[in-house]
Amino acid sequence: MLDLNYGYSDCLAKSDEIGWKLDDVLRADAVYDFGRRFLPDSMVRNTTLDLLSERERLTLNQLTARGYFSLLGQLEQGIIAGSVRKAQLVLLGENEAARALVRVAEEEFKHQLLFERAVAIFDAQFPVECAGIDIGTRVSELVISRGSLPAVFMTLHLELVTQWYYSECVRRDNGTEPLVKRVLEYHWFEEFQHAKIDTLELVRETATTSDGAIDGAIYDYLQIAESIGDLVATQADLDVRTLEVAIDRRFDADDFERLRASRAAAYGSMFVVSGMLNPHFLEVVHRVFPEGPAIIEQRAKAVIDFP
Ligand SMILES: [Fe+2]
Ligand SMILES: [Fe+2]
Repeated sequence: MLDLNYGYSDCLAKSDEIGWKLDDVLRADAVYDFGRRFLPDSMVRNTTLDLLSERERLTLNQLTARGYFSLLGQLEQGIIAGSVRKAQLVLLGENEAARALVRVAEEEFKHQLLFERAVAIFDAQFPVECAGIDIGTRVSELVISRGSLPAVFMTLHLELVTQWYYSECVRRDNGTEPLVKRVLEYHWFEEFQHAKIDTLELVRETATTSDGAIDGAIYDYLQIAESIGDLVATQADLDVRTLEVAIDRRFDADDFERLRASRAAAYGSMFVVSGMLNPHFLEVVHRVFPEGPAIIEQRAKAVIDFP
């Protein structure tokens, strides 16, 4: 059962207790161990194993981690936009909720700096130039494009999916590069409060919203999520091009497309489909709209072939 035995003040107190500084987590002169994988295989979802040597798979794994950090930092921009706007809406008469939402935004700005630094350290060590997409502004526009409630669904989705990948994949994997693991661990410490605050917001807002409006907000959320899926997938093409240069090998058109589609599916899974199907997310959705999980699950399965 969904435990809502906490309030905004509990989340703020926990945030005060565990708040960390960027330099304490990742110094600018830190060094990755490029002899190790950067993400667990379950997260990278490499379905093109037959195309690559062991060494090439390791490079693809590391490039996928770079993409994950870069995209995660840019997706935080959407959470900032949603949280700041929501804080403004609730400020009159709901000071504690507004404080909690501003705290989320403030911590997400710090997370962006953390992921930007993680990418910069990667780029300084990686033997060839890496290309990345720039989607932060577009993500912000998308998250707040459909009103308050779809934005809360989307931000809760993003908070929970990043938590899930750390707690269920990275934390349990002894082979993950230690610095990468540390970055994701410290991110997770603060995300835990964010998901709780978003859950409180969702329950509070839906208490005064009609079922028809909640139903509409779920469809709006799904459109935002799918648009974000289309955006993150565009990183895949750049990853394969960077891989070609890094391993000094050119793929023919069919193999390139298999690799690109595999990376696009991995990013779509990491940020979109796994969020739609996240058990805690669906539990919260069920709490506010019992028909919601079936709508979301059906759409998720139609979006991507998800095992
Ligand atoms: Fe974050
Ligand atoms: Fe967050």
